[in-house]
Amino acid sequence: MTDPKTFRIKSFGCQMNVYDGERMAELMAKQGLTAAPEGEDADLVVLNTCHIREKAAEKAYSDVGRLKREDGSRPMVALAGCVAQAEGAEAQRRSDMIDIVVGPQAYHRLPDLVAEAQKGKRPVDTDMPAISKFDAMPARKTVGPSAFLTVQEGCDKFCTYCVVPYTRGAEISRPWGDIVNEALSLVERGAREITLLGQNVSAWSGIDEKGREGGLELLVRRLAKIDGLERIRYTTSHPADMDEGLIAAHSEVEKLMPYLHLPVQAGSDRILKAMNRSHTAESYLKLLDRFRAARPDMAISGDFIVGFPGETEEDFQETLAIVDAVGYASAYSFKYSARPGTPAAEMEGAVDAHVMDDRLQRLQARLSAHSLAFNRSKVGETMSILIDRKGKRPGQMIGKSPWLQSVFAETDAPIGTMLEVEILEALPNSLGGRVLRQEVAA
Ligand code: SAH
Ligand code: SF4
Ligand code: F3S
Repeated sequence: MTDPKTFRIKSFGCQMNVYDGERMAELMAKQGLTAAPEGEDADLVVLNTCHIREKAAEKAYSDVGRLKREDGSRPMVALAGCVAQAEGAEAQRRSDMIDIVVGPQAYHRLPDLVAEAQKGKRPVDTDMPAISKFDAMPARKTVGPSAFLTVQEGCDKFCTYCVVPYTRGAEISRPWGDIVNEALSLVERGAREITLLGQNVSAWSGIDEKGREGGLELLVRRLAKIDGLERIRYTTSHPADMDEGLIAAHSEVEKLMPYLHLPVQAGSDRILKAMNRSHTAESYLKLLDRFRAARPDMAISGDFIVGFPGETEEDFQETLAIVDAVGYASAYSFKYSARPGTPAAEMEGAVDAHVMDDRLQRLQARLSAHSLAFNRSKVGETMSILIDRKGKRPGQMIGKSPWLQSVFAETDAPIGTMLEVEILEALPNSLGGRVLRQEVAA
């Protein structure tokens, strides 16, 4: 195989994969490779995959197949991410186009693995080394106005349907100093908003410069002191790890945005128990009440699974009931997908495919009605938006509201500008506004 000069990284799945993809790109650039321009062939393609549902995992293989070029040649292919971790060398038995298999905790070794592949080997690295990959990575490069920062990885919750504890390993927290330094360097490079990432981000714990032990709240309060950083977000949270301090931070730290992604998965306590979720519908609602007491305008978002083994129509009605009780601003909903090796895959009571389809449709209709209602509640309000991309129409730009809505407005302000807008219209997935003022605080 020849020396790769250009690369392309494609990330699927969650935001942690997006973050990992950015770090891999920085690593490849440091090795002297250049990113292949859009639409052009790359010498090395890294597919940063997701294993969460069967469809996502199968997509990885069809994407590999599609890398074959018309003339029969192909790029060097590295399978990274959670499918790589879950399948290891088996992936190379399924597809002879995969030269390298590298797991989410080992991608700092990618340059060595590429060198091995050039020699005709087919290296597999799915170690979860004690020395963190983060220590072996180059400094952050140019970033956009809104940046991701992984602070916590892995999961010890073992929900019975989920592969993440197996693909990402046990919960670990990145050290305080590393996170603060990375945040400073992101802001120096233009980030005005940082989203702290973790599979269970609120399980983060660490020790600050003064030797104080604390959780995510302590970190948020420290990052809020960074000049030039206007907005702080975090995702994803598990109800079991939310503490009083974090709730209080939502009323006290202005830069902490009024948005909480707190998946509930289902509304029936019987199903929640079978999922090993460690909360009930009621304890979840009580927790949200505490957040809303601290910050009344808090937008809540969630994840849902329909058709978990044994789910009856009655159980499903309880999911709809919790959707109404919360009034989600936004949500992701999925059909249950049995994952090999998880306890739920062995459970009886599989739900029929068309029943699942029907429930998903009804759930999504209900969720859409709530997000439209949430968006409509903002019409007439004045809010800040952080411009992060161009709109479809000429002269139009799109920015994010504090509640993570996309807001379009006519303006010549460039990406990275903070604007004050008045909201004029609400659509199911966006808001339209009129610019009142440029460069306002968060
Ligand atoms: N750590 C996060 C996100 C996990 S994955 C959390 O606990 O909330 C993102 C979402 O995928 C989950 O919240 C869940 O709704 C969904 N999911 C996970 N495993 C699934 C499966 N086997 N089938 C269908 N959806 C699944
Ligand atoms: Fe998966 Fe549950 Fe862990 Fe989330 S908390 S990553 S759903 S096991
Ligand atoms: Fe998918 Fe792995 Fe994220 S399985 S959702 S990419 S942690």
